[in-house]
Amino acid sequence: MDRTVVLITGCSSGIGLHLALRLASDPSRSFKVYATLRDLGTQGPLWEAARSRGCPPGSLETLQLDVRDADSVAAARARVTEGRVDVLVCNAGRGLLGPLEAHAAGAVESVLDVNVAGTVRTLQAFLPDMKRRGSGRILVTGSMGGLMGLPFNAVYCASKFAVEGLCESLAVLLTPFGVHVSLIECGPVRTAFLEKLEGVPGGVLDGADAKTRHLFSSYRRHSEQIFREAAQDPEEVTEVFLTALRAPRPALRYFSTERFLPLAHLRLADSSGRSYVAAMHRAVFADQPAEEAAAATRPPAPGAPPAAPQ
Ligand SMILES: NC(=O)c1ccc[n+]([C@@H]2O[C@H](COP(=O)([O-])OP(=O)(O)OC[C@H]3O[C@@H](n4cnc5c(N)ncnc54)[C@H](OP(=O)(O)O)[C@@H]3O)[C@@H](O)[C@H]2O)c1
Repeated sequence: MDRTVVLITGCSSGIGLHLALRLASDPSRSFKVYATLRDLGTQGPLWEAARSRGCPPGSLETLQLDVRDADSVAAARARVTEGRVDVLVCNAGRGLLGPLEAHAAGAVESVLDVNVAGTVRTLQAFLPDMKRRGSGRILVTGSMGGLMGLPFNAVYCASKFAVEGLCESLAVLLTPFGVHVSLIECGPVRTAFLEKLEGVPGGVLDGADAKTRHLFSSYRRHSEQIFREAAQDPEEVTEVFLTALRAPRPALRYFSTERFLPLAHLRLADSSGRSYVAAMHRAVFADQPAEEAAAATRPPAPGAPPAAPQ
C-alpha cells in the first residue's frame, strides 16, 4: 500500500520537528515525511532525534523550503519523488513581541511575510494538485492568538487572525474537492518560539512611553507565569495533529488545550468586544489599575479564567 506523503514546513525545531519525528517513527510505517527547513544547515537536531527515535530508513527526508520565497517552495515540491503530497502541514511561523511603536523597521513586514504570505505561498504551490486529484489534507498550526487579541502581540495576532480567515475561507470552498483544511489551535507550547522572535523581544523600548514600558513588564511577568502553569510539550500537541490527520471527516478547528476556550467564547458572546477587552486586561494586568475594566459596562463573565494565553 502507498504510504501517506506528508510535507511539513518549519522543521528545524519545535512543533514541526516533533511532528516530523512522530510520523516518521509511527509503528504503522505508513508515512513518508518530507521535513522542510528554511536553512538546511539547521537539520542536525532533527536527524539526531530521528536516530534516537529509530525512524526507519526512507521514512524521513529533509528539503530546503523558505516560505518567504516562492521559488524555494516550488523547488521543494519538485523534489517530492512520489509526485504528490497527501498531507501538507503549514507550520512555519515567527513571533513578534513588544509595544507596536517599538518594533524595528522591517520586523512587521517580516512576520507578516512568514506567517501570512508564507502560508499563502505554500498553499498556492500544493493546493492545485490536491484539487486535481480530489483528495488532500491541509493542517495549519494556528494559535489562540489567532482567535483573540493579546497585548504586546498585536502584529503576531494580526498574522494569526489572518491565517484563521485564510483557512476558514478555503474550508468553505474545498469540501466538494475532497480537500480538508484543519487548524490546530495551540496555546503556549515549550519550543524555541520565544528564542526565535523577530528582533529583540520588546524591540527598542526607548521608542515607547514610560507607562507602556511599565505595562510591558507586567505583561512579561504574566506571560512567564502562564508558560509555567500551562505550556504544553510539543509531543502533546503533535497528537492533536494526528487526531486531525486521522479523522474521517476532519473539522476546521482542533484545540491543543481547552484552557483558553472560555475567553474565546466570551469574545463571541458579547459582540461589542467590551467583555473580552475588560476580562483580558484584568487577566494580564492584574497588578495594574484596570482603566478599561472600570470603563466596561458589563460585569466579568462568570467562569472567565484568570489567565490569558501567550
Ligand atoms: N510555541 C508556542 O507557544 C506557539 C503557540 C501557538 C502557535 N504556535 C505556532 O507554532 C508554529 C511553530 O512554532 P514553534 O512553537 O514550534 O516554534 P519554533 O521552534 O520557533 O519553530 C518555528 C519554525 O518555523 C521556521 N521558520 C521561520 N521562518 C521560516 C521561513 N521563512 N521559512 C520556513 N520556515 C521558517 C523556523 O525555522 P528557523 O529555525 O530557520 O527560524 C522553525 O523551524 C508557528 O506557526 C507558531 O506561530 C506556537
